[in-house]
Amino acid sequence: MLSSKNPTIFFINRIFSLAHVYKSKHTNKFKDKILVNAFFEPSMRTSLSFESAMYRLGGNVITFNKDISTMNKGENIEDTIKALSKYGDAMVIRHPDKSVIEEAAKYSDIPIINGGTGDREHPTQGLLDLYTIHECFNLHDRLNILFIGDIMSSSAIKSLLDYLSIYPKIKVNMLPYDNRGPSMDMLYDIGMNRRQLPDDIIIYEDRLDIEKYDVIYMSSLQEERINNLLSRAKTDCIIMRPFPRDGEIDRSIDSDPRNKDFEQIKNGVAIRKAILHYIFIDLKEQ
Ligand code: CP
Repeated sequence: MLSSKNPTIFFINRIFSLAHVYKSKHTNKFKDKILVNAFFEPSMRTSLSFESAMYRLGGNVITFNKDISTMNKGENIEDTIKALSKYGDAMVIRHPDKSVIEEAAKYSDIPIINGGTGDREHPTQGLLDLYTIHECFNLHDRLNILFIGDIMSSSAIKSLLDYLSIYPKIKVNMLPYDNRGPSMDMLYDIGMNRRQLPDDIIIYEDRLDIEKYDVIYMSSLQEERINNLLSRAKTDCIIMRPFPRDGEIDRSIDSDPRNKDFEQIKNGVAIRKAILHYIFIDLKEQ
């Protein structure tokens, strides 16, 4: 599971059906398996939800710690990952350089899972976000999704957009924060996938029709703007964000019933259990 690019409906439906089962079920099915967690950048949710998922499946986890590893004595990344691949049955890697994860898949003995590549892709976060939307809406219906905040550097938004590309009725808009709008490549991809022109994708606050959105996905937003926007949003919309949050996001929405952010975190474990099942069983049977 290296990328969110070119998703298939078959894969997404399979992961969702596994996640549905695993959301409320634990098992000992993978008690002989070891997951290697190798995070070369900080993480809390992705690393620990994979750890939780693996333990909930009966398996074990070993965690690589870059700060006390022999990389500090000059050992290179290739030798490090090759060695780690001898210790387990699958490996989650987070690294700022996407090519490190792609290369690792070539020389590792075990399946590699992309745990986030800087500001480029976050395939498992995108899946858990899509699953959270799927729990509230039919993804094949007409839905309006608004992305707010720092879109340029959000790997979570980029991967969610990759998955959304296979649902043609879903319309996407963006309200970027300051100068943090999408790159031309992102705009081109969205435009090609949904026949939307850049002027139809980017929304400015003075012409924002917040009442029409079913999903409001925030990567960050200044406190004074959020209350004003959400007070006018639909009563049955959902509000999402990938975390971590900082002082820019108003904590008053924690008590808003439309807010799904901690549900996203809970779904992170179910989705990662589903991904591990897919790797340990489905891929072996193909
Ligand atoms: N959402 C997310 O990826 O969180 P972490 O950086 O804590 O893994």
